[in-house]
Amino acid sequence: MKLALIGYGNVGRALAALIRRKKSEFPFKILGIHTARHGTAVDPRGLARDPRFGPAAASVEAFLDAAHAEIAVELTTLNPVTGQPAIDHMRAAFARGMHVVTANKGPIAHAYADLHDEAVRRNLLLRFEATVMDGAPVFNQVRNNLPGVKVLGFTGVLNSTSKIVIEAMEQGGTFEEGLDAARRMGIAEADASFDVEGWDSAAKTAALANVLMDARTNPQAIPTRGITRLGPDRVRELNRAGKTVRLVSRARRTDRGLSLRVRAEVLDKTDILACVHGTSNLLLLHTDLMGTVGTVSVSPGVEQTAYGVFIDLVEVLRAVNS
Ligand SMILES: NC(=O)c1ccc[n+]([C@@H]2O[C@H](COP(=O)([O-])OP(=O)(O)OC[C@H]3O[C@@H](n4cnc5c(N)ncnc54)[C@H](OP(=O)(O)O)[C@@H]3O)[C@@H](O)[C@H]2O)c1
Repeated sequence: MKLALIGYGNVGRALAALIRRKKSEFPFKILGIHTARHGTAVDPRGLARDPRFGPAAASVEAFLDAAHAEIAVELTTLNPVTGQPAIDHMRAAFARGMHVVTANKGPIAHAYADLHDEAVRRNLLLRFEATVMDGAPVFNQVRNNLPGVKVLGFTGVLNSTSKIVIEAMEQGGTFEEGLDAARRMGIAEADASFDVEGWDSAAKTAALANVLMDARTNPQAIPTRGITRLGPDRVRELNRAGKTVRLVSRARRTDRGLSLRVRAEVLDKTDILACVHGTSNLLLLHTDLMGTVGTVSVSPGVEQTAYGVFIDLVEVLRAVNS
């Protein structure tokens, strides 16, 4: 299957490496890559391992017209405030008859219902497993493994950078040293304030609520309080008392509609929500038929994000071939 990548940063490069590694089993070929500052590369025979980037295409539309792919893979920077320009990138791909796969949670947090409807109308697929918990099954878990279930709510610890910062402070470091460690690991958002102020978690909460609970919400509508008010002294005081802090996403159905929030919560270290460390994440789904069922992802890195995208590519491949 022919792919056009919009964005070629940490995730894009890890995905290209994964596709090369699995090329004998899965027929994916990258025909084009478009970036913001590094230019555009297109080759109808498939791009080489180290693609030669020429000047940037005049627009994403012009790039997609040149690439002639079957799937557009949207991997640009998160914009948690509007979800743009990624939403427009996806619409441009749909308009050209391309399926869309993304790791970018912005569009799912802001415009899921519209994008989903447009994909259905055009008989195309929209997949986004990597937007929450990388390749660990979240959306696919509900879609494929929990038929008939109604999601009543969820509780999640979904942001890695905030955990790295808290743990750095517990170990004697500063807030900034923790942020630098997350940046070195390639897991911080391009603007890391999105992580520590809670925007990344709010975007994931909105994406989960939109897809699993038909919330039609967006990150701004979710009351959010990040970890920026925490300092090393407070974190170490809590640590000595057997407590820690996690940025927790919570959703539940109430008589008055959905209740959604993201908040830095003080937890006993024995709390299940406190038991995920570093890049490890946890999501508990509260359901009508299956009670509470959880997904844990232990120390994922950018390779696991790329694998989340790969899972979606395989889903599209199977659907097209079925
Ligand atoms: N990294 C992770 O662990 C992780 C995990 C889950 C989800 N995600 C999501 O995956 C996406 C990609 O993350 P990343 O870490 O790969 O980001 P990144 O390293 O910052 O790379 C972003 C890429 O997008 C390109 N880009 C930005 N704006 C663009 C535009 N308007 N048009 C075309 N290209 C544009 C950039 O171009 P230049 O190269 O020219 O700057 C760059 O190639 C983000 O939405 C992120 O939230 C990341």
